[in-house]
Amino acid sequence: MKIVLIGPPGAGKGTQAEKLAVHWKIPRITTGDLFRQAVSEKTPLGLKVQGLLEKGSLVPDEIVLGLMEERMSKPDCKTGFILDGFPRTVGQAEGLEKWLGRVGLKLDSVVALEVSKEEAVGRITGRRQCASCGNTYHLHFQPPKQEGRCDVCGGSLVQRKDDEEKTVRHRLEVYDKETAPLLAFYQKKGLLKKVNGLQKPNAVFEEIKASSLIK
Ligand code: AP5
Ligand code: MG
Ligand code: ZN
Repeated sequence: MKIVLIGPPGAGKGTQAEKLAVHWKIPRITTGDLFRQAVSEKTPLGLKVQGLLEKGSLVPDEIVLGLMEERMSKPDCKTGFILDGFPRTVGQAEGLEKWLGRVGLKLDSVVALEVSKEEAVGRITGRRQCASCGNTYHLHFQPPKQEGRCDVCGGSLVQRKDDEEKTVRHRLEVYDKETAPLLAFYQKKGLLKKVNGLQKPNAVFEEIKASSLIK
């Protein structure tokens, strides 16, 4: 299965990507996580993108495409992958098409998670992430069993630097301008599946699984 998840910040891409990766036994590739890891390790890539991430602006297409082509070429992607947060511009989608064509692959499905702006802001400002394993929680919707501690590994839960309300609003504007045009791009290709992201996480999961099997 080769699937793309598209949606504004807070739509639940990461939450669903994690469930789908376990269900289909394929890797989840999250561009945001790859960049955040590079930032925390202070690699040359991390130093280049840190300011953009903190502002909530997009990393340039050439950098994203280079990174993703390398990642998608790894052996664990042989049986498929879930792309979470990529592509995010028409330029990236065209680059992905070219790469898929070169290696003889096709996307199975592009899932658009639909949520309102207010829901997105509420979800993101309450989000907490494990500093060790990256598992995601929400103060009200998905609280950890023990406050401030990850259920999976016991790591401490932190807030992402770009999750304060002002930056979230900017990320939503960037989504409308740069990423929303991808919906028409994939609709034309007959790949787009719209899913109501306002339901409970498990209901969203069931809808994605069902919609991805329909050709
Ligand atoms: P990225 O990390 O991808 O952030 P994003 O797109 O803004 O999305 P989020 O991770 O904030 O939200 P999500 O949809 O994953 O929601 P989640 O499941 O966590 O990108 C970060 C930055 O990296 C970008 O701003 C950019 O700078 C750069 N970047 C990344 N990719 C790039 C690219 N391709 N090109 C250029 N730059 C790029 O859920 C949110 C919260 O809601 C959680 O707390 C969760 O517990 C809760 N929740 C989830 N589902 C539900 C539900 N159904 N009901 C109730 N609560 C829920
Ligand atoms: Mg995410
Ligand atoms: Zn953890």
